[in-house]
Amino acid sequence: MRTHYCGGVSAADIGKHVTLCGWAHRRRDHGGVIFIDLRDREGMVQVVIDPDTPQAFRLAEDVRSEFVLKIDGSVRPRPAGTENPNLPTGMVEVLTQSLEILNPSLTPPFQLDDEVINENIRLQYRYLDLRREPMQQNLRLRYRVAKLMRDYLDAHGFIEIETPMLTRSTPEGARDYLVPSRVHDGMFYALPQSPQLFKQLLMVSGFDRYFQITKCFRDEDLRADRQPEFTQVDLETSFMGEDEIMNLVEGMIRDMLAKAQGVELADAFPRMSYAEAMSRYGSDKPDLRVTLEIVDVGDAMKDVAFKVFAGPANDPKGRVAALRIPGGAALTRGEIDAYTEFVKIYGARGLAYIKINDVTQLNEAGLQSPIVKNLSEAALKAVVERTGAQNGDLIFFGADRAKIVNDALGALRLKIGHEKSHVDGRAWAPLWVVDFPMFEFNEDENRWDALHHPFTAPKDGHEDWLASDPGQCLSKAYDMVLNGWEVGGGSVRIHREDVQEKVFAALGIGEEERHEKFGFLLDALKYGAPPHGGLAFGLDRLVTLMAGAESIRDVIAFPKTQRASCLMTNAPNLVDEKQLRELHIRLRNPVSTDKAA
Ligand code: AMO
Ligand code: AMP
Repeated sequence: MRTHYCGGVSAADIGKHVTLCGWAHRRRDHGGVIFIDLRDREGMVQVVIDPDTPQAFRLAEDVRSEFVLKIDGSVRPRPAGTENPNLPTGMVEVLTQSLEILNPSLTPPFQLDDEVINENIRLQYRYLDLRREPMQQNLRLRYRVAKLMRDYLDAHGFIEIETPMLTRSTPEGARDYLVPSRVHDGMFYALPQSPQLFKQLLMVSGFDRYFQITKCFRDEDLRADRQPEFTQVDLETSFMGEDEIMNLVEGMIRDMLAKAQGVELADAFPRMSYAEAMSRYGSDKPDLRVTLEIVDVGDAMKDVAFKVFAGPANDPKGRVAALRIPGGAALTRGEIDAYTEFVKIYGARGLAYIKINDVTQLNEAGLQSPIVKNLSEAALKAVVERTGAQNGDLIFFGADRAKIVNDALGALRLKIGHEKSHVDGRAWAPLWVVDFPMFEFNEDENRWDALHHPFTAPKDGHEDWLASDPGQCLSKAYDMVLNGWEVGGGSVRIHREDVQEKVFAALGIGEEERHEKFGFLLDALKYGAPPHGGLAFGLDRLVTLMAGAESIRDVIAFPKTQRASCLMTNAPNLVDEKQLRELHIRLRNPVSTDKAA
């Protein structure tokens, strides 16, 4: 139907006859001449309709935003002084000979180039939202990123193999989405939380290098970086250790960022143990662009009169830590109160602080704070030395169970770091977090949970602790972190059946349950399973970071809301009685069925 994309018309086409199709982005009447910015996916070009072509002119008078048009015309330079250097097609315009309205449009519920549009309206009219330039760019970037990763893996001998969507789920720590079986009364499939077990079985089958760009489904509390269905670039290899796998996938990210955005990440990604990340940043996904650091001061607080500190300092599960804010003495009372409210979100009961007026005086003369009188000089000396405090700084303190202190000071570090520009100016700060514990104690249920998933191998020499001291046991797991986001995670897996049994036992999964749920894996491990390991990247998160978007919803064509619904299709929806009956389902709290689709 057309000879050129609207966005593809350039000065090189001056004098040519072109046929263009696209949407009327804007129409302007200028003293008898009508201008239409005609838009397609490649951009916009100015189309001129003058009264010398009366038929086209009459039609053009009816054109409104988002009408679909076809125009024939010739390309000419814009009159001197009316060029638009900001537009790739800004030196030219197309003088229309004929115009056809291919389809009119209702007035859109929002202006496509409005800066701020209510997200619910965007999601309801997603097909219009996706017409907008930033969304077009995001989805094209997403395609490019996926393509580059696929190309890299292909070049490294990986083959893509699909795994089932209707399956029995792999535990990845979230709730399952269940699908009722019509054929098997009362039984359910689970949508995969990840292809984890299938990719391990493909290694047992000898494929050696597998990958898949695939959907995963997790019914969990949603946040800006989480969707109920999301996409993994999932991979698995045989006969490779932790270092080899990390180097291979680091190469992929390096290659992809270079080709997609011209980003050169020079040095090898730093590697940091989980313990160090928690200690210095209060997080297992530290944003290394923020220069603030947390330091332990608990050992110096064991005997102080200030109970808020002495309590946790003497508790093996407690932590007392300090966060130095350079120049922070300038923070206002109001700002400090707001930060104190902020850390409460993470369970902190307060936010003690000291303003440093004169570091040489370790008393109420040099240090300004109601808590100074209850801290010994030795304790204050330790604080000043370890934080490196200078005159004019402020030091915040967290004292509580270690998890609360880490969460609270970790989040405060990011908030103040970004708000007050304590950042190093790098665009990209990647790192590997390694040496994760195998297990994390679940206080509520009084048992050990797998920190990654139950198929992660323990570090060499740590196997003996599986039974005797699970808390000591470290794993061969690794996460890739980019600017404070966990973009990928993986591990070397357990390839021996006896070790897998021990890990299930440590997780309190009884013999019967193990064989009922994971019998196929345990059996497969007995038939010559090779040593293997891999990782999965969260494609949505990677693209969000690269696009500079605020939420992963902005890089997903048809995402769900925080309440896991689709505002365009209105999923999830009621279904009719007959469908439910076929699936052997009776609702406990039927919703009025006359609304059923
Ligand atoms: P994991 O659970 O760490 O590992 O997931 C891998 C990566 O997927 C992304 N991700 C998500 N992205 C958007 N929304 C979500 N709800 C969501 N959940 C996870 C993250 C994460 O790093 N089978 C293992 C991988 C392996 O061991 O090989 C797994 O799924 O970026
Ligand atoms: P209080 O003795 O309760 O008046 O608290 C004195 C200071 O300690 C206040 O600045 C509180 O915000 C702070 N504070 C109280 N509990 C904690 C805690 N668990 N961690 C850090 N600071 C705290």
